[in-house]
Amino acid sequence: MLNAIQADITTLKVDAIVNAANSSLLGGGGVDGAIHRAAGSELLAECKILGGCPTGEAKLTKGYKLPAKFVIHTVGPVWLGGNHNEAGLLENCYTNSLKLALEHRIKTIAFPSISTGVYGYPINEAAHIAIQTCQKKLNELQSDIEITFCCFSKHDLEVYQSLLNKGIC
Ligand code: APR
Repeated sequence: MLNAIQADITTLKVDAIVNAANSSLLGGGGVDGAIHRAAGSELLAECKILGGCPTGEAKLTKGYKLPAKFVIHTVGPVWLGGNHNEAGLLENCYTNSLKLALEHRIKTIAFPSISTGVYGYPINEAAHIAIQTCQKKLNELQSDIEITFCCFSKHDLEVYQSLLNKGIC
């Protein structure tokens, strides 16, 4: 089941929240900074031993002081105009995050709008990829995992909700 809300992802009491990280996994701004601040220093300590993460891949850590049990760190593509496989890499972020979630029997997961902040990915295209990839993966795996797209702005929420209402898949 897919739904979209407007919230600060660090407040969500779900099994896992997804972090839009950078390849070092050593924290940053945006949602990455918010998650590290809320989780506390143990999160960074665990991230330090993960040895980074290539774009499009995902790694799991505990959630520490967060209400979420786990954090799935994934690294989105930087938007370079659309001819550098940005769509494929963004799709991989959702696919690999869901793969990790299923491996860890995660039942509820919240995604931020990966790559649409500092990395500059246009929100409409990114939201379309997010919803289509998650829908396809759930159908393929016959999984009942609950997916929440956690938008930070009202505008982003409207984009996700209009795509979900259209039932794109
Ligand atoms: N909860 C939910 N969403 C949030 C939050 C939050 N607390 N804070 C920011 N966001 C939203 C942004 O508004 C944007 O829609 O997360 C989305 C992703 O934006 P960024 O956090 O800038 O992530 P991204 O565009 O993927 O860039 C990643 O930014 O913070 C650095 O270390 C990070 O280098 C990496 C880069």
